[in-house]
Amino acid sequence: SDYRRITIASAGQHTGEPVEIAGWLYNLRKSGKIIFPIIRDGSGTIQCVGVKAQLPEDVFEALKNLTQESSVIIRGRMRAEARAQGGYEMDIEGAEIVQRVSEEHPYPITPKEHGVEFLFDQRHLHLRSRRQHAILKIRHEIIKAVRDYFDSNGFTLVDCPIFTPAACEGTTTLFEVDYFEDEKVYLTQSGQLYNEATAAAFGKSYCFGPTFRAEKSKTRRHLTEFWMVEPEMAYADLEDVKRVAEELIVFMVGRVLENRKTELATLERDITKLEAIKAPFPRISYDEAVEILKRKGSEIEWGGDFGGTDETLLSEEFDRPVMVDRYPAAVKAFYFQPAPERPEVALGVDVLASEGYGEVIGGGQRVHDYDLLLQRIKDHNLPPEAFQWYLDLRRFGSVPHAGFGMGIERAVSWICGLEHIRETIAFPRMLYRTRP
Ligand code: 4AD
Ligand code: MG
Repeated sequence: SDYRRITIASAGQHTGEPVEIAGWLYNLRKSGKIIFPIIRDGSGTIQCVGVKAQLPEDVFEALKNLTQESSVIIRGRMRAEARAQGGYEMDIEGAEIVQRVSEEHPYPITPKEHGVEFLFDQRHLHLRSRRQHAILKIRHEIIKAVRDYFDSNGFTLVDCPIFTPAACEGTTTLFEVDYFEDEKVYLTQSGQLYNEATAAAFGKSYCFGPTFRAEKSKTRRHLTEFWMVEPEMAYADLEDVKRVAEELIVFMVGRVLENRKTELATLERDITKLEAIKAPFPRISYDEAVEILKRKGSEIEWGGDFGGTDETLLSEEFDRPVMVDRYPAAVKAFYFQPAPERPEVALGVDVLASEGYGEVIGGGQRVHDYDLLLQRIKDHNLPPEAFQWYLDLRRFGSVPHAGFGMGIERAVSWICGLEHIRETIAFPRMLYRTRP
């Protein structure tokens, strides 16, 4: 046709030209001889205006009776309209209904309030809503920022396997998989152990992929399948981890503020809270954190790990993320390098997000001595056979090295200001949810 296909987002570059948009009916208002279909096409939404006297009878009637989420192509012209959301309206000159949603089986998600369980049962459709769309746009921005940060700072992307023979983050949260005849493997909990190999090959490497934890806890922070980005650096220590983690977070939040203003507004996010996220982040020790928590009424005693409530209490103390280091070695994974002056604490750090969001990054320095690592594997009742290749890294040019992992969904939840992590991923997997 003479109408050039454009996206709604680019409406402003085509005012007055004959154009068409291809999308879905989001909403429809009518007043007698004039109709106002609101169309969304994935890039944005726009109000269209159809005047009965200016359209063929059948086109006007078809649009007037169109049902929510029917797919439709609208032809016409864009016009600047100061009062319109997005700044433009489209005057309709023609339309083509691609598939009409029937009245007998209407679109299940209506503008009225729905329960959370219902919406997540309908997640395949729920993603079309303005709010979910905004969240996933921000997720994409965060992922792009993370990649850009590492790519432009000398890290090489080397992805790690998903089927793994050994546990990285403890044996209690492993998903076991039958792998042919009599072999059992696990879904990866973290790419870290492999990253330690690739860091020795590339100096600085990162992996970015899905990770799995059989978390029996039903919390607003846990998924059973989540995406983690994990950098690893050779010839690096705990302080390098803190510096890189801080730079990454500042860069990522800056990108979202720069490029996703509209989406943050859709979510009614208080952006002053995000604008406060600047270096340097406060750095405290586990010991200091325990003191703060006791003062705030927590039951924590030195030696215990922080629960979700403790993390919330801690992160409420600061207007930006706080870095807590040197946890008791006993509550941390087997691979942490002990502090030289005080071996009962680990050279690890957790970054707790602001506004009570809790841990968003965990990482630290790895054991680089062969004998100590073997001892740690045995102390944790892990099978040394499964770790031979990992121990090898301590035989062939072992160096101090360090890295961390950031859960993408934790980051999205925090930056978007969400109440629950389930909204941060298109199809969440949780204790009681594996569908759709
Ligand atoms: O603190 P974690 O367990 O650390 C590791 O897995 C290290 N091996 C990473 C490394 O050093 N390369 O997990 C890292 C991050 C957490 O800080 C959190 O953001 C996220 O992964 N995370 C989860 N996100 C969603 N649901 C869960 N069940 C998560 N468990 C961890
Ligand atoms: Mg952790």
